[in-house]
Amino acid sequence: MRRPIIAGNWKMNMLISNAAEWVDELLVHLPVSDEVDVIVAPPFTALAAVQDRIEKSKILLAGQNIGPEPEGARTGEVSAAMLKDAGCDYVILGHSERRQFFAESDELINRKLNIACDHGLISIICVGESLEERNAGQTHDVVERQLVGGLASVVGGQLDRLVIAYEPVWAIGTGLNASPEQAQDVHRFIRNWINKIFGSEQSAVIRVIYGGSVKPETSAPLMAQQDIDGLLVGGASLKSDSFYDIINSSL
Ligand code: 13P
Repeated sequence: MRRPIIAGNWKMNMLISNAAEWVDELLVHLPVSDEVDVIVAPPFTALAAVQDRIEKSKILLAGQNIGPEPEGARTGEVSAAMLKDAGCDYVILGHSERRQFFAESDELINRKLNIACDHGLISIICVGESLEERNAGQTHDVVERQLVGGLASVVGGQLDRLVIAYEPVWAIGTGLNASPEQAQDVHRFIRNWINKIFGSEQSAVIRVIYGGSVKPETSAPLMAQQDIDGLLVGGASLKSDSFYDIINSSL
């Protein structure tokens, strides 16, 4: 059985005071449940405030990025060890906004993935096609290329340190979410690819989650798909009540 994941990616939003309030509000309602992994990825500046408040809960903490070197003279970067030190279990890597605005390549993402693995972080690796690529019928090719490059160094034993997030670029922040059937098609493709490269045992357990304009109204039909194991939520995770509704719809 694959445990569902509901993850909130706050991106470059939320000040420390808003973050603390968000956690307090969520914890009033959040069921103590082993049925779902609830993850929140605040900006670096709010990690400590969120960690303080979630310590006695089951909410898990994620970073939104790491630098590709373990430590040293890299002004402005945050290392995997620093995220671990701040209480993170997860890190989001290869988000399309990092690929688009910071020119992150699959090779760079793979280096970050190695460092995350070395430091005991679970990586949520994002893949997904642009609208032009979808319209040109290239969705599977693009996703495969990102998987081949991003996971280049991964060996079977490391797959339990990985979650794959399918986030079609055209669905992020646009209000246009992929239909459950469109998402299921790509999730199935990703699971089949894992099966081809790493074998059926691994493909049966790896969690593949969907992101892109997920809302409380759209979450349940997505979660009902056979190969969708969770959701990576941007805008709708910024309000504790809509994030809570999305969690609830997955239970
Ligand atoms: P939105 O839910 O705002 O579309 O963002 C999705 C996303 O990029 C999560 O990582």
